[in-house]
Amino acid sequence: MKINLKPRTMMYPAPAVVASAYDEDGNPDCCTLAFATMCSHHPPAIMIAINSTLKRKTLADILNTKEFCVGFPSVEHMAETDYFGIETGYRQAKLQKANFNYKNAEMVNAPIIEEFKVSVECRAMHIAEVGSHTQITGEIVNIQADESVIDNKGKIIFEKLNPLAYDDVTHSYYEMGEKISDAFKPGLKFR
Ligand SMILES: Cc1cc2nc3c(=O)[nH]c(=O)nc-3n(C[C@H](O)[C@H](O)[C@H](O)COP(=O)(O)O)c2cc1C
Repeated sequence: MKINLKPRTMMYPAPAVVASAYDEDGNPDCCTLAFATMCSHHPPAIMIAINSTLKRKTLADILNTKEFCVGFPSVEHMAETDYFGIETGYRQAKLQKANFNYKNAEMVNAPIIEEFKVSVECRAMHIAEVGSHTQITGEIVNIQADESVIDNKGKIIFEKLNPLAYDDVTHSYYEMGEKISDAFKPGLKFR
């Protein structure tokens, strides 16, 4: 038997990523986001959504510069990632507080967080108001990955990145499991 539940935002699996941008004085800020996903192959793009009814500094910064980075935290960065999502850059220099370092991105004017093993550099290509959130689509103009997580063909090794997962329904962090199959193959038997 299925049970009807009250409508709420949800997605499985959901990531916990960290968007970063500079403010007007050139100071870096960042915030944790569960509202983030891929949305275009050509050009490569992702979209993020940040609450516009609450005062988020990172949103103001991205709307100002139109450029940002998105870092993919590994499980080992859980505490810092959580902190970036419970404190505002209006009150604290969060990167400094968490002992995290940043440098300028290569292709955009935005801070890239050095501790994250993979980050994408984005240029805002579309901005839309969606209910309580501002949805920003960013064209990915560069990707930076630690040598330690890429194979000899330049592909990111999922297990080495060990990305942090998040469940918004129970407000919990998860570690992803093991690879169970190649994709585009197990379905062939039904063709
Ligand atoms: C796990 C997690 C996921 C979050 N996801 C989002 C999100 O998708 N959108 C959003 O607007 N805020 C999200 N937040 C809240 C912001 O990260 C938080 O308000 C942050 O303090 C904003 O910082 P800022 O003012 O420096 O930008 C999330 C927080 C956590 C802990």
